[in-house]
Amino acid sequence: MVALDRLFPAHLATLQATADRALVAADGEALLIGAGQLRTQFLDDRTDPYVASPHFKHWAPILDAPGSFVLHCPGQRPRLLFHQPKDYWHKPPSLPTAPWLDAFEVVLLRSPQEARAHLPAHTVYIGDDSLKDPLSWGFKACNPGPALACLHYARAVKTPYELACLREASTLGARAHQAAAAAFHAGASEYAIHLQYLAATGLTEAELPYSNIIATNEAGAVLHYTELSRVAPNQYRSLLIDAGAQVRGYASDITRTYATTAGPFQALLADMDQLQQRLCAKVKPGIYYPDIHQQAHREIGQLLIDHGLIRCSLDQAIDTEVTSVFFPHGIGHLLGLQVHDIGGHQQDEQGTTLPPPKAHPYLRLTRTLEPGMVVTIEPGIYFIPMLLERAHQDHRRSSIHWDHIEALLPFGGIRIEDDVVATDQGALNLSRAAFSALA
Ligand code: GLY
Ligand code: MN
Ligand code: MN
Repeated sequence: MVALDRLFPAHLATLQATADRALVAADGEALLIGAGQLRTQFLDDRTDPYVASPHFKHWAPILDAPGSFVLHCPGQRPRLLFHQPKDYWHKPPSLPTAPWLDAFEVVLLRSPQEARAHLPAHTVYIGDDSLKDPLSWGFKACNPGPALACLHYARAVKTPYELACLREASTLGARAHQAAAAAFHAGASEYAIHLQYLAATGLTEAELPYSNIIATNEAGAVLHYTELSRVAPNQYRSLLIDAGAQVRGYASDITRTYATTAGPFQALLADMDQLQQRLCAKVKPGIYYPDIHQQAHREIGQLLIDHGLIRCSLDQAIDTEVTSVFFPHGIGHLLGLQVHDIGGHQQDEQGTTLPPPKAHPYLRLTRTLEPGMVVTIEPGIYFIPMLLERAHQDHRRSSIHWDHIEALLPFGGIRIEDDVVATDQGALNLSRAAFSALA
């Protein structure tokens, strides 16, 4: 039995305990968790790529069986209602043969509607809106807020099974990053780098946890650039690649930036790498995550001063939002079944939320870290024409060394992103460990 399968029963026991609390919160007696359905495109008979609901893959690592469900009744073995239609147009999904399945009582469904025959009274449904005629199913409630709040809050703390999946996802991502970097240094187009990346993961594009960001030269300044240019320019100066992988439904989210020649950009990149590792080391239980974000602004401000890119004091750079011109996103987010795992602003199982500070609206995580939480740490420095033009026209104009910025515009930007676990022993950096193991 592989290690992941050995860890699965304890993972399932944790989910059952949380689901019991969610049922109390929703005054229900059973939880039906839908995998989601294939969605047909407008005026067409084609479907969008199917993505399993995170709630479903939390329980059952099945990524290819739309119309399936998990049914949890307190005190009973969970039931997997596995949708395997009779179909000669498409290949019906095969029931997994992995040992983790032993934890379930399995029922085959020929249509999702057949699940109705298995539902006890007062069943609470958690899933998307793809059920045909949900009112006729007689649910106690569909996605009730108190149940979702309970499930989402708990999900931030990963079980040992989930940590093992995330570790493997980082390993797979690191291997593919290595292949992509080699393609970049060989002069491949963004599209060709993307193909090398995919080949190294063994995943299809739809199986990636998010669309690859493969941004060369100026494109590095577009935070979520996904164009994949088919043509390589005459000269590469830089690559910013933000790409992940997925293992049993768990994501990695890794960014690396490369420079082709020595110079101010490469010097900035080297110092950013040190800065990023200092921030990663702060990921520990008891740390209020927004403090890492604030620390990132201070460190980035100092870096901008040290490299002659701004000419004001550090306090002024923070207070007048000069650092936000160069670092306009949050320091990171929860990671797990979704690349931006849900519940980042939640403060308790009842659903109290804490929005990000006004000056940092894009910060996705305002929780205090606990052992087993997995977060990304992804500081960046970008040369974004839109934000620079704005700063040139406002109070920040005199704080910036415009000549130096001009020289860096052709490099786009820098982001370095790792996936880090808060443990009682300190920060456990899954991404760095994965790259080191490859070296
Ligand atoms: N890849 C998206 C992000 O870093 O949040
Ligand atoms: Mn990220
Ligand atoms: Mn990323």
